[in-house]
Amino acid sequence: MRLSVAIDGPAGAGKSTIAKIVAKRYNLMYINTGSMYRAVTYKALEKDIPPENIEALCNLIETMEMHFENDELYLNDVNINDQLTVPNISKNVSAYASIKEVRTRLVKLQRDMSKKYDVIMDGRDIGTVVLKDASFKFFLTASPEERATRRYEELKAKGLEVDYSSILKDIIQRDYLDSNREVDPLTKADDALEVDTTGINIDQVVNKICEYINNGLELSMR
Ligand code: DC
Repeated sequence: MRLSVAIDGPAGAGKSTIAKIVAKRYNLMYINTGSMYRAVTYKALEKDIPPENIEALCNLIETMEMHFENDELYLNDVNINDQLTVPNISKNVSAYASIKEVRTRLVKLQRDMSKKYDVIMDGRDIGTVVLKDASFKFFLTASPEERATRRYEELKAKGLEVDYSSILKDIIQRDYLDSNREVDPLTKADDALEVDTTGINIDQVVNKICEYINNGLELSMR
């Protein structure tokens, strides 16, 4: 059976940073599902397709071949990672990610990847919907203020003009939308290990996760 690790949690909880490190330790393919929703948003905005035009969105997704190489998303063989984290995409992505038809299509693509490769996948619904039978599930959290600070530093390091208070506002609004939408809202799976990353460093989080995985792997070999 393939190894699969699910990491869910709100924006800025450290999911992608942690997932990339854990991926290297266990030789897993890292799948950032948020970037797939961002890619749909990016293309929809480029083509002026509003979230209400579900038929056009479904047709658009049909034209989008997405795969991951070295932790990054390739859309139709082009690396579009840098275009996906800009504020305009962050502001609009929840509206597209809350559409049932969009989710059905992306969930199918994500499941197909997990059938082909050993994966670590991060998102909002991985442990509850996409990989219900994942070998290991984690739910990462951190306070909104800590998450906003992390996003601020990340965008500033990329040379973007950013404003802390609008990032915090955006995070709080996105938490609300992601947790309260009708389709596949952000919730912790009953069998996920919750890790609060507020005030603890990356190494400590990675150690916690790897210890949990190692114990599970050891048990399954007995
Ligand atoms: O992780 P992120 O901030 O890049 O995610 C972007 C948006 O996509 C976020 O508002 C929630 C949504 N998303 C989702 O609904 N389901 C996922 N599996 C991953 C992300």
